[in-house]
Amino acid sequence: MVERVLHYLIGDPEGLYVDACLGAAGHAVHLLQSLKLHGRVLAIDRDQVALQTARRRLQPYAERVTIVHADFRRLGRVLAELGEESISGILFDLGLSSLQLDDPERGFSYMLDGPLDMRADSAQELTAETIINEYEEQQLADIFYTYGEERRSRQAAARIGKARASRRITTTGELAEVLRPALEPRYYHRSLARIWMALRIAVNGELEALRLGLTAGVSALDEGGRVVVLAYHSLEDRLVKTAFKEWSRVCTCSPALGPCTCGANPSLTVLTARPETASSEEIAENSRAKPAKLRAAGKIRAGNVTDLETNVWGGRR
Ligand SMILES: C[S@@+](CC[C@H](N)C(=O)[O-])C[C@H]1O[C@@H](n2cnc3c(N)ncnc32)[C@H](O)[C@@H]1O
Repeated sequence: MVERVLHYLIGDPEGLYVDACLGAAGHAVHLLQSLKLHGRVLAIDRDQVALQTARRRLQPYAERVTIVHADFRRLGRVLAELGEESISGILFDLGLSSLQLDDPERGFSYMLDGPLDMRADSAQELTAETIINEYEEQQLADIFYTYGEERRSRQAAARIGKARASRRITTTGELAEVLRPALEPRYYHRSLARIWMALRIAVNGELEALRLGLTAGVSALDEGGRVVVLAYHSLEDRLVKTAFKEWSRVCTCSPALGPCTCGANPSLTVLTARPETASSEEIAENSRAKPAKLRAAGKIRAGNVTDLETNVWGGRR
């Protein structure tokens, strides 16, 4: 996937690129190696632990990279504070890194026993433990259904309600056991995965962050700049697809009928007709790439449809 990410992302090899999901800096290193001498990277993550690892890996490129601890939903403010007016490209490699998933202390995996935490940023107050023990049953059911698409959401919430009446649920192991009678045995692990995903999305406000970060990123793009998103579940991919569709919508009004009434004012052109997925070789190398969906789009002058037709880019496409 890295090759394709770089293919879509890099237009101006001397530009400023944002890696909004730095993680362990895998993409950032490839990006820095592909850019020319003056090409720079602004690397963001809201996870301090990830930033420590990334800082070490990015040491050889220190002159061309700025690392910032932030939520990408605040991208506009981060750019303003750094005095950067625009960017040549932005990459969102969403979701969680192996560093987060494999650490039992973070609570991101239902297969590893640990505290019910699930915060990407440990400075944040809200944890999964608070949600599980303090939210109304109806709220829990809504979270499991809306963010996890879990069919047994009401039964799961009811079980939690019953169990927590006698004791607080504090670990991932306890929660998995509490849920067992509410879930179909055949789909127990699949349902746990869905419920964990739902909790993680709720704890970290993932969809709202993506909506805000994507909006800020696209508005900061230079003309011809690119946005690339790797999404790992259907809710975030749907959000990206819908946003790209809306921002690339062209006017369909007939000029013969007078001024435009449909309100279309496209600022993007979509570069991936369908989402791209990992090849079997890529999945064999890294099984976490399996659900990845890559979408890319490029910035055009607001409402300038001829850009869509003539393609404003030079560079690698
Ligand atoms: C899949 S990992 C990125 C892996 C990285 N691209 C690499 O190649 O090593 C996703 C990262 O995005 C970060 N992240 C997710 N949502 C974020 C947000 N709203 N703001 C900042 N970072 C976020 C997570 O903390 C995690 O470290």
